[in-house]
Amino acid sequence: MTSVRLAVLISGNGSNLQALIDAAANGTLHGEICVVVSNREQAFGLQRAQRANIPNHVLAHDEFESRAAFDQALLKLLDGYSPDLIALAGFMRVLGGEFVEHYAGRILNVHPSLLPRFPGLDTHARALRAGAREHGASIHFVTEELDAGPVVIQGRVAVRENDTEAQLAERVHEVEHRIYPAAVAWFAQGRLSCEDQRAWFDGQPLHQPKLL
Ligand code: GRF
Repeated sequence: MTSVRLAVLISGNGSNLQALIDAAANGTLHGEICVVVSNREQAFGLQRAQRANIPNHVLAHDEFESRAAFDQALLKLLDGYSPDLIALAGFMRVLGGEFVEHYAGRILNVHPSLLPRFPGLDTHARALRAGAREHGASIHFVTEELDAGPVVIQGRVAVRENDTEAQLAERVHEVEHRIYPAAVAWFAQGRLSCEDQRAWFDGQPLHQPKLL
């Protein structure tokens, strides 16, 4: 595979989606975004998709009677676009086992911390409270366990004295926007894969995440 068909799932602002759109446009993504799906109608990222002429859909999770029903509908919608890879980009829903199994080894997520530190929500506030001197972002393959799949690449930022949550979040975001397109490009070029719950890079198991 030298060019990947990428589906991007969002819930909000979509600045990571924008970074992927920009990388697709300038050729560094080695792929095209074939569809954007949001579980929230108000997500600004939908406008970004429209502006870039990318097919986009809203699949409102609260209109489904169960998590499994939502997952099934999402799976069906995505399958219609035959994506090679799915990028979760600020997608605030946990995907169930059936979905993850269907796209095993083909789902990436961006998480705003240096995993395994601070899985879950409110990572910037938690990093500040913990007195962390370093913080950052991770791109990882998605497995059934939340924020626990194999990490591919991380970007670090130093925590400054008197940093506010917003300041720290902004610097972490900049890092996210650089590491996400890089990870997708590696996948597209066949350099990156996920097998046996491990990330593989250039034919070797990745023991440590790549660093920006
Ligand atoms: C990012 O910080 C990402 O790490 C987290 O949600 C945020 C999404 O931001 N999962 P955006 O919608 O891409 O701007």
